[in-house]
Amino acid sequence: MHSQLYRLVYFSKNRIVGGPAAITVEIDSILRSSQRNNTRMDITGALIFNTGIFAQVLEGPRDSVEATFEKIQQDVRHSDVQVLAFDATDQRAFARWSMGYFGRSRESQDLFGHIAAATGFTTAGLEGARIFEIIRDIAFEEEGRAA
Ligand SMILES: Cc1cc2nc3c(=O)[nH]c(=O)nc-3n(C[C@H](O)[C@H](O)[C@H](O)COP(=O)(O)O)c2cc1C
Repeated sequence: MHSQLYRLVYFSKNRIVGGPAAITVEIDSILRSSQRNNTRMDITGALIFNTGIFAQVLEGPRDSVEATFEKIQQDVRHSDVQVLAFDATDQRAFARWSMGYFGRSRESQDLFGHIAAATGFTTAGLEGARIFEIIRDIAFEEEGRAA
């Protein structure tokens, strides 16, 4: 018996103080926590970062997604968390990633240019499904490149 899967998509403003080195340290720390906790919580997903913005997809059983997102929202390393989508889904898009990270790709920078231009940090004109598709495309393109 499998519990119903849910997928949550959000974006937020980076609040990490310091330059690229400080950001690398904090993101490494976030990814270490994520990989440890998410495996235990049956969560998979992807995180994308570019200087101003995080975007993340969390997928798993509803209770796990809610508990994890609740914790993430308290994190002072970001703010202005805006949920774009929270929907039931039949299958995971990021089944092989406890938390895939795609911060360094050129495509992710293009993505954030798009978000910043589209929103100025409001949800106006932004669709969760579209952002999810963009993140998924980046993840699979990156995976193809690594293979
Ligand atoms: C943008 C962002 C994404 C995060 N994603 C996750 C995540 O997917 N899973 C997780 O457990 N923690 C995530 N965190 C970190 C949590 O806020 C928290 O620091 C961490 O879960 C603490 O766990 P620990 O005490 O086991 O290190 C994220 C933080 C930020 C700023």
